[in-house]
Amino acid sequence: MWNDRKVLDLLGIEHPIIQAPMAGATNAQVVAAVSNAGGLGSLGAAGVAPAKLRETVAEIRGGTERGFNVNLFAAHTEEFDRDARPAPRLAAKLAEYHDEFDLGDVPVPGPMFGPFDEQLEVLAEEKVPVISFHFGTDAAAVEKAHLAGAKVLCSATTVAEAKTLEQAGVDVVIAQGSEAGGHRGTFTIDYEKALVGTMALVPQVVDAVKVPVIAAGGIMDVRGIVACLALGTSAVQMGTAFLGCPEMSVLAAWRESLLRARAEDTTVTKALSGRPARGIRNRYIEEVEALDETLLPYPAQYSVSRDLRKSGAERDDPDFMSMWAGQGVQLIRSMPVAELMQDLVNESQALIGRLANR
Ligand SMILES: Cc1cc2nc3c(=O)[nH]c(=O)nc-3n(C[C@H](O)[C@H](O)[C@H](O)COP(=O)(O)O)c2cc1C
Repeated sequence: MWNDRKVLDLLGIEHPIIQAPMAGATNAQVVAAVSNAGGLGSLGAAGVAPAKLRETVAEIRGGTERGFNVNLFAAHTEEFDRDARPAPRLAAKLAEYHDEFDLGDVPVPGPMFGPFDEQLEVLAEEKVPVISFHFGTDAAAVEKAHLAGAKVLCSATTVAEAKTLEQAGVDVVIAQGSEAGGHRGTFTIDYEKALVGTMALVPQVVDAVKVPVIAAGGIMDVRGIVACLALGTSAVQMGTAFLGCPEMSVLAAWRESLLRARAEDTTVTKALSGRPARGIRNRYIEEVEALDETLLPYPAQYSVSRDLRKSGAERDDPDFMSMWAGQGVQLIRSMPVAELMQDLVNESQALIGRLANR
């Protein structure tokens, strides 16, 4: 059915469709549904504490006998200056929000995700078949995953990053174009220099590394899938396209915004977490960016808005939540995971057939 079997055979999947790990939005049900449909379901587990992670892996296994992927943020993202404090205008703005929503004191910077070593230990002990990393990785983490029998994927946003990942021993590089929703995987240079679109990035990465390449960023339907296969990738990773599925853990206000949003409503911002990520503009992003002041580094910036975002989620207020989405947002279709997967597979084959006869 698919001519390029590199990623299919390596990851033991039927179709070259990887549902992107999306911290906070993916869950065991979604992962199992994608894997059962022949793709690779992925859990975004950066924010899942080790004990809960073990339970969630068991829950995935309860839903599917097929392979799946669990994703963590690289260990280095846990290192930050604990004494860092918001600059004056940000401090005043946060205090203003806390007054508005009656939230008490603004939290001091603290860790957000991890601890990475314990999370990775759980994945190794549980023999999770595919492990992916975001924000780069290192040879030690890759070796630990390999020793546990896992295949390793990691995102790159430039050709140089792809080569670095190949040297660290990853089995597959994910080339993440600037259209992508969520955090930029950039780990070597200023993100502004690494805003390379999928169409330009993918063939350059394919030419630069020997390992198979997965394309990510702006792939919403069969047109994107088939285009990326033509660019030389062995599979695609799709995030935003799955956000419309009812099984996803997406808050109602975020879901409504996704259905209304256009490409130009998304922006790459550091305002929420301190690291660049693409999401739908809201009051928080606009007002914090307008402060025109140096923000805290990741994850300190994320942690100072923690209570504000928690209250935003409780009030289902789109102005105070992270509404990550890619530039393809207008092409979102709201349908169950199994139906979306079936459509993608069937329509891809039909499109490939039509192109062959052109
Ligand atoms: C809501 C959301 C959350 C994301 N969280 C993660 C994550 O936890 N780990 C990760 O490796 N990538 C994450 N990403 C990025 C995806 O892996 C992928 O690069 C992106 O979704 C591809 O672009 P697309 O959204 O246009 O399909 C996230 C993307 C979205 C939309």
